[in-house]
Amino acid sequence: MKVTIVGAGNVGATCANVVAHKELAEEVVLLDIKEGLAEGKALDIWETSPINLFDSRMTGATNDYAASADSDVVVITSGLPRKPGMSRDDLIATNAGIVKSVTKSVIEHSPNAVVIIVSNPLDVMCYCAYLTAKIDSSRVFGMAGILDTARYRAFLATELNVSPKDIQAVLMGGHGDTMVPLPRYTTVAGIPVTEMIDEATLNGIVDRTKKGGGEIVNLLGTSAWYAPGAAAAQMVESIVRNQHRIFPCCAWLEGQYGQDNIYLGVPAKLGKSGIEEIIELKLNEGEQELLSNSATAVREVMGVLDGMELA
Ligand code: LAC
Repeated sequence: MKVTIVGAGNVGATCANVVAHKELAEEVVLLDIKEGLAEGKALDIWETSPINLFDSRMTGATNDYAASADSDVVVITSGLPRKPGMSRDDLIATNAGIVKSVTKSVIEHSPNAVVIIVSNPLDVMCYCAYLTAKIDSSRVFGMAGILDTARYRAFLATELNVSPKDIQAVLMGGHGDTMVPLPRYTTVAGIPVTEMIDEATLNGIVDRTKKGGGEIVNLLGTSAWYAPGAAAAQMVESIVRNQHRIFPCCAWLEGQYGQDNIYLGVPAKLGKSGIEEIIELKLNEGEQELLSNSATAVREVMGVLDGMELA
């Protein structure tokens, strides 16, 4: 297996580190446009191999997509992160052009790869990559739901003083403040979370989850990387090990949940060919309305992309 991660910034390098550490591929390639950055980080990660005991060969390259040739999975993290006061949508002007040109080069060299998008604004960058890649949507999708769900699960674990391992949850919608955590589909060791926590506290956690990315941006002055990098690596794992795990992924919808021609977070099964199945949950009226509102917010930003003239 060969995995390429484009963008050797904090998220890309963290993802590469986890992919190598877990030996998810024999070959891991890190790419960046900044001279020496990918080579340096790849070398640093490779130098942990005798300590962390892995065989995945890490290499880095500056803007040389030939190094990524014939990858099985490519993770695209390229683009600017948020600064305090910015929404993810504010990044579209810069990141759309970057994601388009990166996707083009990626597909030229790895036409059969499964492509995972991590760049923001996530849902619309998936759309941008899909329009550019011209491959089946089962092979182009985005990482956001695992991250947002992980935040939700972590907050619940702290509040309830239980292991985060025992918390299962579903979260849907766009990767923004309109995302839709679903308490009705949240359990603690199989017990519905609503039986373990009062409504006001749970609502507070749902609200904190929606703003979870911004909480980190405000603390650090830039966006998060440990959780986003680990989340992308978890998707890589389900693909390269053909695990058929079900995660919330940003997937292209063609009628599911009443939504057509849009990338939106939904539960999906991931295996070696990418998205194997989109799971359609029975949402109640309130949940369906929240999801529709989230889709409307994503469509607005899709409109901005459609109106842009990208090279
Ligand atoms: C976040 C960014 C990566 O949610 O979108 O932290």
